Amino acid sequence: MSSSVNQLSISKAVKWLKQSNYTTAFTGAGISVESGIPPFRGEDGLWSKYDPIVLDLDYFHTHPAHSWDVIKEIFYDFFGEAKANAAHIVLAKMEAAGFLKNIITQNIDNLHQEAGSKAVIEFHGNSRTLVCTGCHKQYSNSDFSLDELPLRCEDCNALIKPDFIFFGEGIPPLAYQKSIEAAEKADVFLLIGTTGEVMPASQIPHLAKSNGAKIIEVNPNPSNYTHQITDIFLQGKATEVMGEILENLIQTS
Ligand code: APR
Repeated sequence: MSSSVNQLSISKAVKWLKQSNYTTAFTGAGISVESGIPPFRGEDGLWSKYDPIVLDLDYFHTHPAHSWDVIKEIFYDFFGEAKANAAHIVLAKMEAAGFLKNIITQNIDNLHQEAGSKAVIEFHGNSRTLVCTGCHKQYSNSDFSLDELPLRCEDCNALIKPDFIFFGEGIPPLAYQKSIEAAEKADVFLLIGTTGEVMPASQIPHLAKSNGAKIIEVNPNPSNYTHQITDIFLQGKATEVMGEILENLIQTS
């Protein structure tokens, strides 16, 4: 594979990954960009096309039909077609080979699981499951055609929402607790495709760093982390950089 990333930096990152007893990957929208899912921020980001108000919990309850129409368009019609890419697959292979303990993802697209990753901590929930806002009954998105919106619970008739967190909602407690644990235990944190702009997710890599983890970052652009906590910045697209990492991990194992 032709190298677009500094080979010395790749070698150093691979050395750290091999020496590590506990590596956690922390992923954001950027890892799914090459699956055809746009990031949230930036020129072509989702928030330049759609108004994020549709994911505000209060707005959802007062304008459910409008919120659901936009949610369907973004997260089901469009995201629903996306397939795991080479970077998701590298992380699954690294886990299977013992180089990766777990993944904390801010993404709700389920692509890590579709690539074969087992230990996935979903910090913001998942779009493939839906939940009743009244009785909390869980549904699969495949239970509905999404032709008649907004969705209502078959048991209590309350509004159904996707099981990912909206603005104004807390982080799922178990995911939060597992993320803190990983940040306390990890000796290497591998950040892939995240700007680090959204709290409290953005604090997790800082916690890892303050507990002694080395930070390896993969991103075509510098992020909020790059000049603050990153030890090795591998500038490039997730599929390319992760492909090189895997190649080097295998060659030198
Ligand atoms: N490979 C790797 N990274 C990429 C790629 C690529 N091919 N293309 C873009 N990126 C990087 C961008 O440079 C940017 O740093 O991915 C990052 C995407 O940033 P955001 O859109 O801000 O996504 P993220 O950090 O995941 O956002 C966090 O914000 O709105 C919320 O809940 C939403 O989980 C999301 C959170």
